[in-house]
Amino acid sequence: MMIRSWLFVPGDSERKLAKGQGNPADALILDLEDSVSDDRQDIAREMVRDYLMGRPDRSQQQLWVRINPLDTELSLPDLAAVMPGAPDGILLPKVYSAADVNTLAKYLDALETREGLELGSTKIHCVSTETAASLLTFHTYLDNVSDRLVALTWGGEDLAAALGATDNRHPDTGEYDDPYLMAKSLCLATSRAIDAQPVGVVYVDFRDLEGLEKECLRDRRAGFFGKIAIHPAQSEVINNAFTPSAEEIAHAQRVIDVFEQNPGLGTVGLDGKMLDMPHLKQARNVMAVVAQIEAQN
Ligand code: COA
Ligand code: MG
Repeated sequence: MMIRSWLFVPGDSERKLAKGQGNPADALILDLEDSVSDDRQDIAREMVRDYLMGRPDRSQQQLWVRINPLDTELSLPDLAAVMPGAPDGILLPKVYSAADVNTLAKYLDALETREGLELGSTKIHCVSTETAASLLTFHTYLDNVSDRLVALTWGGEDLAAALGATDNRHPDTGEYDDPYLMAKSLCLATSRAIDAQPVGVVYVDFRDLEGLEKECLRDRRAGFFGKIAIHPAQSEVINNAFTPSAEEIAHAQRVIDVFEQNPGLGTVGLDGKMLDMPHLKQARNVMAVVAQIEAQN
């Protein structure tokens, strides 16, 4: 499944859990971390497990769980509680390197065995830039990382705290400052290098849907696919932004056609512009995304 929109739902909110079902988000992320207060942790675990068990059909919407970071004592009880509900995947926050992903993968081996689930069926999506160390360890993903890792996203809020920043945005433009743009680019390059999905960061100003759309298109131009949502109104905007438009599809088809009509040529002209292999590759990528999105509708 191509997951365009990943909607965070606080794991201890009955109202929001109910609202998540029926929302166009391709995936929900049932949250046990920052949106749950410490005194609500136990109840949230139970609610998330019951929700997962009550929704075994994931063909229209996947159900993921964000657990607490591995270096807290909350993470193992989180996992033990939710695995009976067979989540499609786990969102792992505050990683230091690929070693954390591999540790989680081992825990999942054990818990899938306990639950009688297919080994490897629970995927991992990590938030790859929330610690200072994480900016220096991206190379570890290239050496040896679990196949369970299918997506990486990044974050600027916890990273700002980790870097000792007083703010993470430029006061004049409102754009992220340098360290966050580096984090974003490293997340993108690492994801593509290991064939995982690079997922755009949350857009916190949830009433500004126009701003969200712009940021989605900017992310998509750069190579990201999909975005994290925090409010139900964001899902549709994200889905649309990451679905190729009719014009894009028509253009991609023309590019593919012109190469097919000129077999043996590595460079051709179309509308007065030179096209070569990278353009053909991009056109094929567009058609592959379209085919996958159509297959899941
Ligand atoms: N998932 C599901 N439903 C949600 C939702 C979410 N993330 N956010 C809001 N809703 C629901 C509300 O409950 C409300 O439904 P109701 O009228 O039936 O109660 C409706 O959508 C409209 O919500 P609205 O009033 O516009 O927003 P709010 O002020 O209630 O909530 C937030 C704003 C930011 C607190 C809320 O969107 C939220 O909790 N987001 C997720 C935060 C999170 O998980 N953060 C961790 C990752 S960064
Ligand atoms: Mg908490």
